Order: sequence, then C-alpha cells, then structure tokens
Amino acid sequence: MSSGTLEPPPLVLKHLQEDDLTEECKDLMRSLPTADQGFLYQYQGSWIPRSFMQGLLSFNKHFQAHDTDILLVTFPKVGTTWLKSILFSLLNRVRYDPNAQQHPLLTTHPHELVPILEIDIYGGKQVLELTHLTSPRLLSTHLPYSLLTRSVKDSMCKIVYLCRNPKDTFVSLWHFQNNTRVNRGMNPSTIEQDFDNFSNGISPYGPYWDHVMSYWKESLEKSKKIFFLEYEKMKEQPTICLKKLAEFLDCAFSPEEEVKNVVNDIVRLCSFENLSNLEVNKNGKYLAANKAAFFRRGEVGDWKNHLTAEMSETLDRITEEKFHSVGLKF
Ligand code: A3P
Repeated sequence: MSSGTLEPPPLVLKHLQEDDLTEECKDLMRSLPTADQGFLYQYQGSWIPRSFMQGLLSFNKHFQAHDTDILLVTFPKVGTTWLKSILFSLLNRVRYDPNAQQHPLLTTHPHELVPILEIDIYGGKQVLELTHLTSPRLLSTHLPYSLLTRSVKDSMCKIVYLCRNPKDTFVSLWHFQNNTRVNRGMNPSTIEQDFDNFSNGISPYGPYWDHVMSYWKESLEKSKKIFFLEYEKMKEQPTICLKKLAEFLDCAFSPEEEVKNVVNDIVRLCSFENLSNLEVNKNGKYLAANKAAFFRRGEVGDWKNHLTAEMSETLDRITEEKFHSVGLKF
C-alpha cells in the first residue's frame, strides 16, 4: 500500500502566468460573466477563479481517471490541507511510519504532497506528468460534481468529499482571501463585502451550497464511490472517522495495527497543533497564499467571533432552504 506522490517528493509545481493562456481559453473567458473585480468567471454555473480556468479546460481535455484513483474533493477552506495530510498518511502508512522522523509531512507542505488537478497538474503551461504517480494515485480537486470529467464519473475511482458548515467555511475563506489579496498588492476586503458575495453564491468554486449538494446527492446513490465526510465530525471523532475512511478505501487497519494504535499515530501526526508548528508549514508560499495561511485556527464555531447575528441568520436561512429537502444538516 503506497500512493499518491510523484517520485521523488516534493512536487515541483508550475502554476500559470497570465501570458500562458491559450487562445481557446481567452476566447471562452471573454464570453463569460465575471465577478469580484474580474477575479471570478462563471463557467457552467460555477464561479471559477480566473487563474484556474486554463487548468480546468486542460483537465477536461486530458485527464483520464484510473479505477484505482482516489480523489479528494473539497470546497475551498473546508479543511483540504488536513484531509490531504490524513489521506497521504493513511495510504502510505506502510512506506512511511506515521511516527518516523523522516515522514514527508514533516518536511513538505501537504499541498505539495497531494496535487490539485486543475491547479497543480493541469494549471501550468506544461502539464505535469502523471505517469510518475504510483497506484493508487492520490489526487484532489475543488471542482463541483458537474465539472468532473466523464472518466471520473464512469470509472471505479473513489471520491472522498469533505464539507464544513457554511459559517466557518465563509469566515475561513474571508481570512484566506485577504491574505492572498494583500500578497497581490490589493486591499483586503471587509467581511461585509465578501459576505454579500458568498451568500449570493459568488465565491471561488461557488455557490457553496450547490457544491455540497451535488456531492451529497451522488453519495446517497453511490455510497461505494463517494464518501461524504464532515469537518465537524472529524474534529469530534477523528479515530472513528479515520477507521471508516480506511474501510471505504479498502485499506482498513489490520488487527496488528489496531493493537499498535496506528490510527492514533496518524491523527496525532495530522493534528492542527502538530502540522501548524512545523517550520515547513510556517514559511513560504503556495500559489498567492502564505503557507501558514492554510493553518489559521482549525476550530469549529469561529464564526461566532466574526459574524453579526444578521449574517448568521442569513446563512442559516439559505442553508435550511437549500439543504432541508435533501436531509443535510449542520
Ligand atoms: P480556519 O480558517 O477556520 O482556521 P483548506 O485546507 O481547505 O484551505 O481549509 C483551511 C481550514 O482548515 C482553516 O480553517 C485551517 O485552520 C483548517 N485546518 C488546517 N489544518 C488543519 C488540521 N490539521 N486540523 C484541523 N483544521 C485544520
């Protein structure tokens, strides 16, 4: 059992420069509605960040899923970094003992261990070679279900979908976007400005509710293909969630591993406290964000420190309206 990294890690990620857009992509973008000062493009119902449009087209054209692939899907800021760490550790636990001093997570940011398809693999001028990945390939994406390629949907590849309550997701996103705005020389946005956009569905890969619902519905019909996880449950019962996740991925903990409590070793290795204090996660950048910005507070309920009662009610109301009929609750 080993998976997911290009050999040797870390990945050398080459992200797109503005001049690298193909004519096809430029033409398409000219025809699409934009929002958030031209940062977002509305493509087939989803708001895609300008700099990932090329990667999305290229992903659609070139990506062929394998039956053995494992795809982590997330809306931004729901705990992608955490789940990347967990999946990497889980799938590679024979090759890399979670207690080892040389574990890759101790020296490499989780985003450089598990590439995002439309950003890290297909986002650059030169598409990264996937042939170097060992099987099962561990990949990730932020794309909504409707924008996944046919080969992902039709193959036997497994999808792990992580979601998080909309209020913490929004607060995390607001902080994160301001980090990237400042790094790009722009002014940070007020929470009110970003809130209006988010609640109207305008945010990277939004609308948030459509994203969650698309995978929720699919997971009900295809429980062997899509595993639906919640950030809050992971925080509350990490070992139970991890064991279920391992079973879903056909790599359940063996009786010997149960005795050694390997599941706990992985939980500890991937904990917020551990990862956020590593030098590799404190310095440098991934895309336009500080690597440290992926580790902010890592708590449930931080929205209470930022949202007004009115904002909270607005998000509750939208969530109730959208999710009630499909039996989804936070
Ligand atoms: P907060 O901003 O609420 O602190 P993503 O990885 O999708 O970008 O999501 C980032 C959010 O996940 C941030 O939330 C971050 O602090 C939190 N996070 C990162 N690593 C975590 C971990 N190991 N455990 C729990 N939460 C984590």
